[in-house]
Amino acid sequence: MATAPRKTSASRKTAAGTARGASRTDAIALLRADHKHVSELFEQYESARSTAKKKTLVASICQELSVHAQIEEEIFYPAVKAALKDKELVPEAQVEHQSLKDLIAQVRDKEPDGEMFDAKIKVMSEYVKHHVKEEQNEMFVRAKKTRLDLQQLGEQLAARKQSLMDDPSQLEGAPAGQAPVENFA
Ligand SMILES: [Fe+2]
Ligand SMILES: [Fe+2]
Repeated sequence: MATAPRKTSASRKTAAGTARGASRTDAIALLRADHKHVSELFEQYESARSTAKKKTLVASICQELSVHAQIEEEIFYPAVKAALKDKELVPEAQVEHQSLKDLIAQVRDKEPDGEMFDAKIKVMSEYVKHHVKEEQNEMFVRAKKTRLDLQQLGEQLAARKQSLMDDPSQLEGAPAGQAPVENFA
């Protein structure tokens, strides 16, 4: 006779050992990990000396920030806005994203050629720090107190992130070689 089918709910084990209680697909854990990663990239930029190294780091920073902002805007923010019946936190965060996108457009695919470029990255880093602080200390704290299914949201975020990483042409604002970056007017 045929063997009994395995239960499909059995989750596949991955090599990544996750801490107890904090699943790798938890929305907040995923977004916090992104924040940490970008902050490390900014730190690396501060100590980078060569133009080539700076250029590589800026490309990563722009990619990470663009993907992160987009998954928040498409998936996380609307869910949080609805759950909190929010009229302030999410709109403010969206305005901040817009300013960040302006900064990204000023440095993406440009030569890191001097103090003005370094200044732009520094300002961007400070701006991201401020934005992240508000998300982590306010939005995430409040979101955790709602009945939002953070696991399910996390799965959606992870899938969308993967898709945007694999195909950057889906990103808002054009990557190099595609249509010119539009003004965010
Ligand atoms: Fe954000
Ligand atoms: Fe964020």
